[in-house]
Amino acid sequence: MSRVLITGGAGYLGSVLTPKLIERGHQVRVLDTCWFGDHLSDRIRNKKRLELIKGDIRDTILLKQIVPGCDTVIHLACISNDPCSDLDEKLTLSINLQAYEPLLCIARSAGVSKFINASSSSVYGVKDQPRVTEDLPLEPITLYARCKAESERIVRSFESDDFKTISVRSATLCGYSPRQRLDLTVNILTNFAVNKGKILVHGGSQQRPNIHIEDIADFYVTLAESDPAGWGGLAYNVGYQNHTVMEIARMVRQVVGQQNVEIEVADAHDLRSYRIDSTLVRDRLGFEPRRTLQDAVGDLKKAFQAQLLPDPLEDPRYFNIKTMQTMATA
Ligand SMILES: NC(=O)c1ccc[n+]([C@@H]2O[C@H](COP(=O)([O-])OP(=O)(O)OC[C@H]3O[C@@H](n4cnc5c(N)ncnc54)[C@H](O)[C@@H]3O)[C@@H](O)[C@H]2O)c1
Repeated sequence: MSRVLITGGAGYLGSVLTPKLIERGHQVRVLDTCWFGDHLSDRIRNKKRLELIKGDIRDTILLKQIVPGCDTVIHLACISNDPCSDLDEKLTLSINLQAYEPLLCIARSAGVSKFINASSSSVYGVKDQPRVTEDLPLEPITLYARCKAESERIVRSFESDDFKTISVRSATLCGYSPRQRLDLTVNILTNFAVNKGKILVHGGSQQRPNIHIEDIADFYVTLAESDPAGWGGLAYNVGYQNHTVMEIARMVRQVVGQQNVEIEVADAHDLRSYRIDSTLVRDRLGFEPRRTLQDAVGDLKKAFQAQLLPDPLEDPRYFNIKTMQTMATA
């Protein structure tokens, strides 16, 4: 069994991934500032295999205490979308970029053998090619995406026989997590459909790749458990399907099962349109998503109905930008 350090392990993805690793018998140490709360359930927290450390990845003294003893690092901690990254450029650079080298150096000297980096398909920018594969040049548009692209380069520069690395260029996640985000495409549209009875689509023709949160969490588990020899220190696209936002809106309306849900179209304020091709991860690492976007919408609908997500249209904790704006003014 592995001893895994997950930075950002209390976030949206981390709150699904951490329990999966624990359930599979791994020892998990989570390092997270817990900006959006700590939603790792009591059931899990009480288990001896989880250690939750509330702290910052930029704290190298802390890192030197908690990285030794781990064989795998899964690095998720991040200011994790464009608007939040734009709020405070200096803060973003310090977390999303400058924190990499010290973390990698400490991990390598502590004898960590696998470093798994959460990147993003936004590193491509906008591409005309029908198949956006890993060999295409990266043309990130935003600060968030630029940091992700640069992080891949830094991570790869540490690759060696004893220190294996990989970057996961994930599509946008969707579905339910105990630490819910409702600021991601499929989740936004589902929230509108279920709780407003009306879906507001800005533009609609933009393509967006998505992936079910349980699938991407399973992929990280597979990486933590697999022999890294085949990774090749590369970055891999990991997505399910590419759809236009309008197609997603119609699909959401169908799954939510309320045909009277109106789809209102407004001007696009974000015209980015991109898609990714995930053939390499399938052929080289054997990963194929098992869940559909419809599954993610259905899971969210059930969570709303079960009152697991109170005040879903207003509570700032579901929207990273609202939480971070509050933190900035506090
Ligand atoms: N959610 C998506 O659609 C998506 C898509 C592609 C890539 N990713 C990447 O996956 C990772 C996880 O995303 P998420 O959706 O779970 O985001 P999230 O914002 O829910 O989680 C990030 C976590 O990192 C923590 N954190 C931030 N700065 C920290 C610091 N300095 N020290 C310690 N902890 C810190 C936050 O408290 C939060 O719990 C991120 O790296 C993100 O860029 C996410």
